[in-house]
Amino acid sequence: MAKYYGIIAAAGIGERFGSNKPKQYEKLGNQTILELSIGCLLACDAIEQIIVVLRPDDLYWQELAIANHPKIQTTIGGKNRSDSVINGLMALMSQALPDDFVFIHDAARPFVPKHDIITLLEAVKNHDVGGILATPVADTLKYSADGKTIEKTVERNCLYRALTPQCFRYAKLLNALMQLTTPVTDESMALELTGFSPLLIMGDPKNIKITYPGDLQPTRDQTASPIS
Ligand code: CTP
Ligand code: MG
Repeated sequence: MAKYYGIIAAAGIGERFGSNKPKQYEKLGNQTILELSIGCLLACDAIEQIIVVLRPDDLYWQELAIANHPKIQTTIGGKNRSDSVINGLMALMSQALPDDFVFIHDAARPFVPKHDIITLLEAVKNHDVGGILATPVADTLKYSADGKTIEKTVERNCLYRALTPQCFRYAKLLNALMQLTTPVTDESMALELTGFSPLLIMGDPKNIKITYPGDLQPTRDQTASPIS
């Protein structure tokens, strides 16, 4: 029976978010975005261990209650997200077998529902590569080379937004990431570029990646206490 592990990519600086600390340490209610994102994987009992990948100069992790959780270990990230994921995979080297599965999840995605993680797990468990959560593109898409004038409308019927978690067989993912010389923006891309066809599993569109401060506004407005 294959085992399941998790990696949380939390070594970014959150430049576009523009806060004085990395966005994963912003609070939503009484928990940080990072704690909520880790909690999404912890909610799935099949996941045995979680590696949280942190910046080398991280100042905030040790302050979190979750830092002492028995299922969690940390390692240091790299320059690009894919370097951070490679480091997370290396940290599992002594325990993960080649065909075990690893869920890779962005620290900046705190809203993935538990049932999406279970659906992903069930979908990949008999697959020899793995797959990702995704949602169909809903907006009409325009192509513009100069960013000023529209050349054409892009057919969106076959287009999907790639979300996380993405869940792959340990050795296939590590080999794919190690083979590539240019960074990839998600794990699936590494497998696609090395000749594999990952599964596409429909997920909840609420599973957004927090990139800009505005991404949090509706949530903060909803959770704000009413003014009496
Ligand atoms: N990430 C990482 N290591 C990096 C870069 C990013 O682990 N070298 C993580 C981020 O912490 C985030 C996820 O990858 O959880 C998705 O990246 P993104 O949303 O781009 O976050 P940041 O890189 O932090 O933001 P920005 O690009 O605006 O600086
Ligand atoms: Mg980034």
